[in-house]
Amino acid sequence: MSDSSDPRLTRNVFDSPTMGAVAEAPDSPAAHSVERLLDARHGLIQIAERGFLYGILSAMPQKFIRAVEIGTWTGTTMHVLRRACDELYCIDPEPQWPENPSTLTRAGNPVHLLKGYSPRDLERLPAPFTFVFVDGDHSEQGVYRDTIALEPLMERGGVICYHDANHPPVERGLLAASKEWKRPHHLFHRACDTLSQTPDGIFGGISVITVESDPNQDKEPWRFLNP
Ligand SMILES: C[S@@+](CC[C@H](N)C(=O)[O-])C[C@H]1O[C@@H](n2cnc3c(N)ncnc32)[C@H](O)[C@@H]1O
Repeated sequence: MSDSSDPRLTRNVFDSPTMGAVAEAPDSPAAHSVERLLDARHGLIQIAERGFLYGILSAMPQKFIRAVEIGTWTGTTMHVLRRACDELYCIDPEPQWPENPSTLTRAGNPVHLLKGYSPRDLERLPAPFTFVFVDGDHSEQGVYRDTIALEPLMERGGVICYHDANHPPVERGLLAASKEWKRPHHLFHRACDTLSQTPDGIFGGISVITVESDPNQDKEPWRFLNP
């Protein structure tokens, strides 16, 4: 459990997510591409977390990254992920942004929005997944269920990132489920050790699961991408 006197908790204060009218997902208007990545005025995610997610996706050697976002809300992190993957599916029972055919991934594919629940409706998405961002049901059982369900759905060499790793129920659910995984994996708990304060307690941080390294791809990603 994090120290509640940590000064990051007064610098990084967020409201709880609210549900209301569906509106276009807010995107940065900055001309500089790095400024667009670092523009954290919208949503519930810090600058460091935006850069961390983009960095993880950029370090992946797969030529084609099929990504899934569990819990998309107003679409803030969707805009971060879409710029660093080739196919993106966002799943949420109550998404706050409308699907828009001009919202594209780096490969030029429209981002798909699925109104539904994880893990129940993950079967409606094309597997295997190369990358998953888990930011949906933040209860211990919710994170546990997502993690168990993702085990058979991940591509070899895939990666799962969990937002709010510093929220105690998220931490408990992830640690319990990852112990039950049979596939080889590594858990980098709180790999991004950010902290956020909300009316519902302490959130923030990102944990990472890397799934079964593929020596052909992971040895030298740049060579694999540019043979
Ligand atoms: C913290 S918000 C997501 C924020 C978003 N990723 C961002 O940073 O812009 C959590 C979202 O998860 C959704 N959610 C809750 N339970 C879910 C579930 N079982 N499957 C998918 N999404 C879920 C909620 O509707 C809410 O929109």
